[in-house]
Amino acid sequence: MGTDLDQMQRDWLSRISAAADLAALEAERVAALGRQGAVTRLLKTLGGMTPEERQAEGPRIHALREAVAAALAARKAALEAAELERRLATERLDMTLPVKAGPRGSVHPVSQVMDELAEIFADLGFAVATGPEIEDDWHNFTALNIPASHPARAMHDTFYFEQGQAPSSARHPGESRDLSSSRPAEERQGDSGFRRNDGESEEGAPRRMLLRTHTSPVQIRAMQAHEPPLYVIAPGRTYRSDSDATHTPMFHQVEGLVIDRGITLGHLKWTLETFLKAYFERDDIVLRLRPSYFPFTEPSAEVDVGYHIENGRRVLGGADQWMELLGSGMVHPRVLAHCGLDPDQWQGFAFGCGIDRLAMLKYGMDDLRAFFDGDLRWLRHYGFAALDVPTLSGGVGA
Ligand code: DAH
Repeated sequence: MGTDLDQMQRDWLSRISAAADLAALEAERVAALGRQGAVTRLLKTLGGMTPEERQAEGPRIHALREAVAAALAARKAALEAAELERRLATERLDMTLPVKAGPRGSVHPVSQVMDELAEIFADLGFAVATGPEIEDDWHNFTALNIPASHPARAMHDTFYFEQGQAPSSARHPGESRDLSSSRPAEERQGDSGFRRNDGESEEGAPRRMLLRTHTSPVQIRAMQAHEPPLYVIAPGRTYRSDSDATHTPMFHQVEGLVIDRGITLGHLKWTLETFLKAYFERDDIVLRLRPSYFPFTEPSAEVDVGYHIENGRRVLGGADQWMELLGSGMVHPRVLAHCGLDPDQWQGFAFGCGIDRLAMLKYGMDDLRAFFDGDLRWLRHYGFAALDVPTLSGGVGA
């Protein structure tokens, strides 16, 4: 019996060490230690033995079981380690390989220019303000000193809503998002003696809702929501009933507004010059302020930018010829008063400029309608890489 057990142990150990993989090893385990396994059956014979036989054979049979179990565990660990090695060797990733380029979207030139504007003006200390595109006629016209009978209301070819058709409390989701919170203008009444009027229209009738015709109403909203000093730009969508190669019913403007003490036209000119030099990435940008008229500014100036012709193309810079670029002026005292600000204490300047026009001039597109056609070929040609984040230090248009 003794030599049988020794032989049996040698047999099992060699079978176990010959198991080529985990499945073969499991088969050996079942054959040896399973319920019907050879070693299990041997253990069961102990029950039929006399006490003396059991005393002699018991420890040896148990030792056999232990040796087989230990061999199984050792072989299992070895096979698992080998399997891991194999996978590590075959599934290795070469992190230095170039990534396969998948399909990628691109940033629309209008979004790109808006980012550039925010970046340039952030460097000058301006925050970004927003307002609703569904606006009321008080913010869009009246508060900007455009009275009910004023031809400017018709000039703007406004899209009006039928009474009751538009939500009267329409708000842009990101309204005033980047302005640091300051004392709301509501608390301002009484300080200055100037009452703000944003309740009802002059006659007490409910306000008429419209698609804003310009970004200028954001001036009003910014002054109402925040204490001066105020340095903001407001880029966004605007709407007028107009359509040809240079006009679309929806277009984009950027508004600028500064309210502080002792602000002059000089500050306006310096700010615009600094902005346009950074935007067009040229130091030879020259501006000309031409007297003009806007109801919400006094005095008002149309700003022209100098350009010259190079190889038959119009190139900004120099002062050979002039083209009109934007409207601007000193904020009208009545506009300040409408927002509850005392014009003897606070002055400011404002400007408004077409963003689509800025994009066309810098990136060389000539038909505005293509901006909003949604033609992918146009976007692939004129679009920008999504991670091409503009920074002044890196060159805004780089
Ligand atoms: N809102 C004017 C327009 O749409 C542009 C404009 C002119 C804005 C003069 C201003 C400004 O802030 O001061 O035509």
